[in-house]
Amino acid sequence: MTFENLLASVQNNILTITINRPDKLNALNKNTIDELGQALVAGEKDTLVKVIVITGSGQKAFVAGADISEFANFSVDQGKALSAEGHNKLFNLIQNLTTPVIAAINGFSLGGGLELAMSCHIRVASDNAKMGLPEVSLGVIPGYGGTQRLAQLVGKGKALEMIMTADLITANDALTWGLVNHVTTPDLLLTKCYELAEKISSRSSVAIASAIVAVNANYEDGVNGFNIEIEEFGKCFGTEDFKEGTSAFLEKRKANFSGK
Ligand code: COA
Repeated sequence: MTFENLLASVQNNILTITINRPDKLNALNKNTIDELGQALVAGEKDTLVKVIVITGSGQKAFVAGADISEFANFSVDQGKALSAEGHNKLFNLIQNLTTPVIAAINGFSLGGGLELAMSCHIRVASDNAKMGLPEVSLGVIPGYGGTQRLAQLVGKGKALEMIMTADLITANDALTWGLVNHVTTPDLLLTKCYELAEKISSRSSVAIASAIVAVNANYEDGVNGFNIEIEEFGKCFGTEDFKEGTSAFLEKRKANFSGK
């Protein structure tokens, strides 16, 4: 697939998607959101792809936010539609993707950029990254899941402080607060992501898909996550990977998973 605002390539079962609008600090305009959605859906369908890594092009930014120039003149209804479309087309899509997604945060990760990273299953940041939800400085609030996912990741008090002050935090603060999983130097950022991706790729992808469904269930209103866990746990017993994983253990050999 070719895109206007993305680069995409697969190597070692890892799809790397690079948001490629460096002159606009990779700001998420409508087309980029559409293309990201298409690339992720295609990646999930591709049986060769076991893990997806999302990063930004250039040294300066992962994503500096939603593209402000596109919504500056929007009405109340257009604002609502912008948020709802973003949730459906990209942010909820990533959270619920059954292929693991890692955000490689290589610089500014602001507003929609941090919301994009927070939708991913794992976040790795370079030590020069700056993260924040500065929307209230524009007279708006985070609209791509930030009010919900930031509180889930760092707790309500810290989330409200970040949102109300619009302050940016460092990668090390983000690590201490649990907003990112790892911090590396900029030159080792992708290496660290690929290390994680390769480890994840060696496990059962069908079991990992079930784990994502079960963990996400805790954050859905009206859904009992324990019941979803029971369902997903049971489903694993019908997979080839379960037979292979348990046989390999009993035969004292390394499992070779088919992902089925
Ligand atoms: N939307 C649209 N364009 C953006 C953007 C955004 N969120 N963030 C950066 N850009 C554009 C700038 O307008 C500029 O374009 P231009 O060269 O055509 O004028 C280009 O990217 C470079 O940004 P610039 O502001 O010149 O870089 P800087 O190093 O001085 O500042 C930031 C970097 C990240 C501090 C600054 O760009 C910024 O505050 N961006 C907006 C962050 C934000 O509020 N995000 C939340 C949006 S809801």
